[in-house]
Amino acid sequence: MTRYILANWKANKTLAEAESWLERFCRLYTAHPQVKVILAPPTLHLQALHQKIAAWPGCPLSLAAQDLSPFPSGSYTGATTAAMVRGLVEYAILGHSERRRYFHETDREVAQKVSEARAAGITPILCVDLPYARTQIAALQEDDRGSLLIGYGPVAAIGRSHPPSPAETQRALTEIRRSAPHSPLLYGGSVHSNNAASFFNLAELSGLMVGTASLEPEEFACICKMASEI
Ligand code: PGA
Repeated sequence: MTRYILANWKANKTLAEAESWLERFCRLYTAHPQVKVILAPPTLHLQALHQKIAAWPGCPLSLAAQDLSPFPSGSYTGATTAAMVRGLVEYAILGHSERRRYFHETDREVAQKVSEARAAGITPILCVDLPYARTQIAALQEDDRGSLLIGYGPVAAIGRSHPPSPAETQRALTEIRRSAPHSPLLYGGSVHSNNAASFFNLAELSGLMVGTASLEPEEFACICKMASEI
């Protein structure tokens, strides 16, 4: 089974900082056939990082967008469409709780983003929390439900240092599994190198989404190494 480890940098890092992180990370972590390491930098840096990854022999990173437009190309000022990042990213984080909270995204808009991503050949990482997991998954087009990853990110645990217990996480994953019988499930929220190992044993879990702890390449490489050693 593939294990996914996602670094979500959110709105952090200049291009110079991003390039320095990449060099340090690639020196620290060697690719493992069963671990998929995904980096979601700010959209503005995707092109430069894509080039740098392509030029680095054996660089173990795939790229993800942190968001996409719910619309196709057209008169949508400020939007970044799936077609614009096609070829640069394999994945797109969609519907993160921070997008719902600060940008007022709805189930319906997120469902449209999922369709846009899939039409461009980009695999969605659909983020949910328990209160709306069922309605968000139900809002997806039938065809879109089978080909995405689902990231369970409890709002109360994001950006802090205390994740829920493995038992609580397991209960939530079992609940989400009812609406998404076949999707790989990821967990995100306060994952650090000192607690990551406790999640890898959870039956339903295929990976981790790492925010704050992904900003330092040493800390993130440590989590990726744990995933490689299971
Ligand atoms: P955090 O963010 O690791 O900073 O809690 C996780 C996430 O947003 O998925």
